[in-house]
Amino acid sequence: MLHQIPILIKERMEQLEKADAKDRQDGTPRLQRLRQIPSESGKLLSLLAASAPEGEIIEIGTSAGYSTLWLILACRYLEKIVRTFEILPEKIKLAETTFNQARVDSYVKLIHGDARDHLKDAFDISFCFLDAEKEYYDDCYDLIVPKLVKGGFFIADNVISHEDELQPFIERVFADSRVDTLILPVGKGLLLSRKI
Ligand SMILES: C[S@@+](CC[C@H](N)C(=O)[O-])C[C@H]1O[C@@H](n2cnc3c(N)ncnc32)[C@H](O)[C@@H]1O
Repeated sequence: MLHQIPILIKERMEQLEKADAKDRQDGTPRLQRLRQIPSESGKLLSLLAASAPEGEIIEIGTSAGYSTLWLILACRYLEKIVRTFEILPEKIKLAETTFNQARVDSYVKLIHGDARDHLKDAFDISFCFLDAEKEYYDDCYDLIVPKLVKGGFFIADNVISHEDELQPFIERVFADSRVDTLILPVGKGLLLSRKI
């Protein structure tokens, strides 16, 4: 899966890595920045998504589709689709470019809008990666966890980089007996919960 990343996916990943690094240095305003996960987080997401039980793969917070490309590697392997949600029109355009350029349209469904308005209809989720505004983490968690299949994964980014802001969220997830949880010191800190 990671040994044979198709060239068009690899090329788009490299373009987005360069654009993200530039954003972080040139003072691009926060909402316009790509704010992508680092590649080691992407590799971990690929491996976990490929190991998830039967069910739907979901991502909340697409940006330009960089993390989605890592999930798509798992989807190619599993012959599945990832459903990814993005609220900002400019990011949606960038993500569409990513998926066209990497020729992965058949592995992804990009949903425009606030994920919270769409998640009510979801069921049998086997994997969810949450990487959106931090004030939405609790709402998304509450919508996703009841719909996770047994053994399904819920993963949230930035729990080390934004530890102070996310502390109440982190504490309630650790106290939730529906899931087993730990924090992985990979990238910006990934909270990983597995449904019991
Ligand atoms: C940190 S960026 C995502 C980066 C992306 N996961 C990656 O690594 O390539 C967060 C994105 O979530 C989007 N977002 C924030 N709240 C959202 C919501 N409620 N529903 C859908 N998208 C949301 C933002 O517009 C932004 O593009």
